[in-house]
Amino acid sequence: MKSIQLNNGTEIPSIGFGTWQIPDGDEAYQAVREALDAGYTHIDTAAIYGNEKSIGKAIKDSGIDRHSLFVTTKLWNTERGYDKTIAAFEKSLNDLQMNYVDLYLIHWPANETQFEHWAKINADTWRAFEDLYEKGKVKAIGVSNFPKDYLEKLLETAKVVPAVNQIEFHPGYLQKDTVALCQSNGILVEAWSPLGSGRILQDETLLELAKEKNTSVGQICIKFALSQGILPLPKSTNPDNIKRNLVIDSFDLTEDDIETIRSLPEIGFSGSNPKTVAF
Ligand code: A2P
Repeated sequence: MKSIQLNNGTEIPSIGFGTWQIPDGDEAYQAVREALDAGYTHIDTAAIYGNEKSIGKAIKDSGIDRHSLFVTTKLWNTERGYDKTIAAFEKSLNDLQMNYVDLYLIHWPANETQFEHWAKINADTWRAFEDLYEKGKVKAIGVSNFPKDYLEKLLETAKVVPAVNQIEFHPGYLQKDTVALCQSNGILVEAWSPLGSGRILQDETLLELAKEKNTSVGQICIKFALSQGILPLPKSTNPDNIKRNLVIDSFDLTEDDIETIRSLPEIGFSGSNPKTVAF
């Protein structure tokens, strides 16, 4: 699989397998085994997904050399702050049965709706991330769901610039301001729900494009993210879709196609608004 270089020189495989909402146990285990068999080398999970143990076991049982895989996990919101972050990280490592992770992300920023001192909480959490990074327990550190102004605030105190901001991104929800800030600071944007959590799979314009290119809307969305310099994290429990989502070299998107996709009407976010979410 092709890779993208992060701002600290670490190589990250250019498509990741997303595991949000894939239940722990057999389902997560099987999905990850399918993904590894299909050729994914990049798995994205999070403590709150509750599936780190199954994912760790699937990776171990696959027999694939750990160093040839890229594994991301994320710090949950209740564990923010310096000490709790360090403890939560160790628990994730333990659940994954690993001695390092490739990328560790702050899952959601502390926000102004919930916390008066939201910026300090994020800065303290980031300090713990920087220490984990300096100790070599993670190959790269980053954030997730940080809107433009939250990222700007974090950059005021950060010693290490985040390598990644993982945000919701798909046709109809492009988060242009946040993407522009990330890209002008060398921060790789990763797309969660790159297929819009299923909400755009029936879009007529996308269906027409897919037909013209003899592919599917899902694959168009994945290629579109990559065309924007954004790393997609499609998720699926269906073996055919798992495989299909890696097949994107059989067609091209022209500049006109990309403009057409960029101009699709806004459908807004499918997840939560990071500035107001109360978890
Ligand atoms: P399934 O598990 O049956 O494949 P997102 O990554 O944007 O959150 O979207 C995930 C949803 O899209 C899942 O419900 C998944 O269902 C579905 N999906 C994933 N890949 C494809 C595809 N290539 N074509 C159609 N649906 C897909």
